[in-house]
Amino acid sequence: MPEPVANTSRANFNDIETTTLRILNGFAIDLMAIPNVEDLFWYVAQKVVGKLGFVDCVIYQANADQTALTQVAAWGEKNPFGRSIVNPLVIPVGQGITGKVAQNQEPAIIDDLLRDQNYIPDTEPARSEICVPLKIGDRVLGVIDSEHPNIGAFGEAELETLTTVAAMTSAKLALLEEAERSSRRYNDLVVAHSELSAEKVNRKELEIRLSEARHLESIGRLSGQFAHDFNNLLTVISGNLELLEAELSNSDALAFLQDGKNAAARGAKLIQDMLAFSQKARLNPEVCDLNALAEAVCRRNERDLGSTVELHPATELWPVCLDRAAAENAFWNLMTNACDTASVNDRIFISTENVLIERPSSIVLSNELEPGRYVRVGVQDLGTGISDKDLQRIFDPFFTTKPAGSGVGLGLSMVLGFAQQSGGAVSVKSCPGQGSTFHLYFPAAPANAHTSLTNNP
Ligand SMILES: Nc1ncnc2c1ncn2[C@@H]1O[C@H](COP(=O)(O)OP(=O)(O)OP(=O)(O)O)[C@@H](O)[C@H]1O
Ligand SMILES: [Mg+2]
Repeated sequence: MPEPVANTSRANFNDIETTTLRILNGFAIDLMAIPNVEDLFWYVAQKVVGKLGFVDCVIYQANADQTALTQVAAWGEKNPFGRSIVNPLVIPVGQGITGKVAQNQEPAIIDDLLRDQNYIPDTEPARSEICVPLKIGDRVLGVIDSEHPNIGAFGEAELETLTTVAAMTSAKLALLEEAERSSRRYNDLVVAHSELSAEKVNRKELEIRLSEARHLESIGRLSGQFAHDFNNLLTVISGNLELLEAELSNSDALAFLQDGKNAAARGAKLIQDMLAFSQKARLNPEVCDLNALAEAVCRRNERDLGSTVELHPATELWPVCLDRAAAENAFWNLMTNACDTASVNDRIFISTENVLIERPSSIVLSNELEPGRYVRVGVQDLGTGISDKDLQRIFDPFFTTKPAGSGVGLGLSMVLGFAQQSGGAVSVKSCPGQGSTFHLYFPAAPANAHTSLTNNP
């Protein structure tokens, strides 16, 4: 390490100049690899100014609006704590020697501090001081400051050396600022790009859902009209069959008649499902407890279809206001579908729960729901699952993948129509090979509705 510059005689001046050059060269090489502003300040204080033979060094950084300087790095007696500064000094720009240098953007050498009106005495006694600004164009970024216990310790040589160090430091600061700006711009671009992509995907999904909804709505209108007319015809057919029954005594003729009545009854059931799908069913909503209703359908399912159903009822489930028979029919349809796909020993899981729908909602539903309280019924099976292609069509009336005679393709159409007519919605999640979960959402009845809850499911 060279001797303090201020105490140097002419004899070893050349040696010092060589050492100084070597240190500055090293700084120029290392400068490229210094990654951030904080490392730069510490490097300059400890490995540049520190090695150049100055007794101490303090570097101050200016704030964004150039009104104050904060101590950010130090070397020598001013920095007894290694690479950390306890209670960093903050100096208003314009005050003291450092504040004046920042304000004037010009270096200063003070030969005798005790005679200088700007000197703010420090804990370390000092008699002379050198201070150079760090700046980019007209903007001051900070100052490099050094003090010495002797009077007149700093001259032209020290000023030249420190000004070079300050220029190199300022150039690197400008590069780091630019890198920071570029990285911010790049991050902004990445965020904007991902927002745009998400927006595109959302819009595409919305368009698909809208076109599906329109498609179903137009089929609904058609089938609603058809179902009404057909229902009237069925009423006439059934009525006439009843009349004929009263007149006939021949057993063969009565058997034919019974076949006719059965067919008419099946037709009537189909029509009911179609009316439900087109949301034109006559509903008689009443306050009911979906736990009790689900329990009843489960037991009926176990009895009639022999399946194993696991019921997970929520405690303190909110009551709902629904047409009981239609709700039972909807659960029944979901459960028969689940049984149809499940293997012999597979269980079917039924759950009920209270949910709060918010906007925007992360749940993908058949139709948008007003934010609020809903009761959700889930029917889950571990069966074949549904392919993505079929998922687009399962709610279409008469869509079925079941063999002729096993399914008509109206079950889910009815479920969807009933849920929507009751102010709710449907959602489905399915993974081929792993089963499916259907959820029905129904608006919770107003808070005082539970008082009129009946115990009968
Ligand atoms: N849980 C399920 N697992 C696998 N596929 C299902 C499930 N539920 C429905 N599907 C598919 O959706 C189609 C339509 O179901 P939907 O209940 O509307 O009609 P269906 O069961 O075929 O006939 P039905 O009118 O007798 O109910 C089914 O044929 C089947 O392909
Ligand atoms: Mg079905």
